[in-house]
Amino acid sequence: MKVLVIGGGAREHALCRSLSLDPDVTALHCAPGNAGIAEVAELHPVDALDGTAVAALARDLGAELVVVGPEAPLVAGVADVVREAGIPCFGPSGQAAQLEGSKAFAKDVMASSGVPTARSYACTTPEEVDRALDAFGPPYVVKDDGLAAGKGVVVTADLEAARQHGYACDRVVIEEFLDGPEVSLFAITDGTTVLPLTPAQDFKRALDGDEGPNTGGMGAYSPLPWADPKLVDEVLETVLQPTVDELRRRGTPFSGLLYAGLAITGRGVRVIEFNARFGDPETQVVLARLRTPLAGVLLHAANGTLDAQPALSWRDEAAVTVVVASHNYPGTPRTGDPIEGLDEIAAEDAPHAYVLHAGTKHSGDAVVSAGGRVLSVTATGADLTEARERAYAAVGRIRLDGAQHRTDIAAQAAAAN
Ligand code: AMP
Ligand code: GLY
Repeated sequence: MKVLVIGGGAREHALCRSLSLDPDVTALHCAPGNAGIAEVAELHPVDALDGTAVAALARDLGAELVVVGPEAPLVAGVADVVREAGIPCFGPSGQAAQLEGSKAFAKDVMASSGVPTARSYACTTPEEVDRALDAFGPPYVVKDDGLAAGKGVVVTADLEAARQHGYACDRVVIEEFLDGPEVSLFAITDGTTVLPLTPAQDFKRALDGDEGPNTGGMGAYSPLPWADPKLVDEVLETVLQPTVDELRRRGTPFSGLLYAGLAITGRGVRVIEFNARFGDPETQVVLARLRTPLAGVLLHAANGTLDAQPALSWRDEAAVTVVVASHNYPGTPRTGDPIEGLDEIAAEDAPHAYVLHAGTKHSGDAVVSAGGRVLSVTATGADLTEARERAYAAVGRIRLDGAQHRTDIAAQAAAAN
């Protein structure tokens, strides 16, 4: 199978790594990719938001499956254009991707299908913002309605900060604070059949101890030793299947990856958010544990034949990923700094630990930073303690001026296990 992956982050590197290990994949292409993906896939320049350009590239390459990684092209309808060109595509239509593209739309779908989530108000005026903040009280949860690369949400006890964020957004969702550990559960779906993957936990805040601003995600681990073994079945029944059924009922079936961001509260599981694509950095740990070859599963979803997919098989290993970010991320990150130590990790730590590139590019002979999240060091081990040790040993070899990373990814879960 010839596969083309659209995107160029650590998630796409993880996808490409898994696809490159799949014996059914005969050619692997990625557009635009990054310096690390270039080691496993042939890179092509493309404007990922331009569906016509993506479809033309797929046709030129003879791609038999296109996988659209990031949310922006999905919301822009790139998967629709690829499918209209007759090429199987993994990723929802622009309309179905509104599940991620508009938080108000997601709330409406959840209300129609009885999916448990935080009570909320969608607000467009300062008066509505004030009324909603007053109704819920602190801590305030204020979410930009549209796509914001994981940075549109402010959770704060500071009324003035909550107000300012609310006023600054055109349309904002203000909701009840959900207290409890967070879980990311991904499911692959063809619009009817829903196949959950294994749960992971992400660390959204920039600093150790969950301090600092929200980011796209600073690290992740899987499995979750503390989680109820029935969690996946419960979320399938109460969240994933009803959501997929509701979108099909509305005439906009969702096929691709449905990401449920969940809070495990004292009153039960609640949806914090949906995303319409693989999460980053959770994908790095979920795919590290997936034994089933990936391409066939994605093709079944793209073709509407997921009911023919045998049960997924998982490695009995733990995986941890630690994001190394640029100086000043998630503000305005500094880029263009050389990254050293990558060869040492390949020589000393592989295959248990490896680097997945996010914002990197080649500059002459050097690899330099080119984005906020620069790379994600992923490691596997017999348990979370071993996976953590391996991940952090490899992170310690990276030399990148001004870089930052969290030192407590999976620490609590490993200690309690
Ligand atoms: P989102 O982009 O909706 O995932 O929000 C980013 C992060 O903000 C989440 O991972 C949570 O840590 C936090 N958050 C979002 N909504 C809530 C909520 N209702 N209660 C508590 N924390 C929340
Ligand atoms: N890890 C959060 C996200 O992918 O949105």
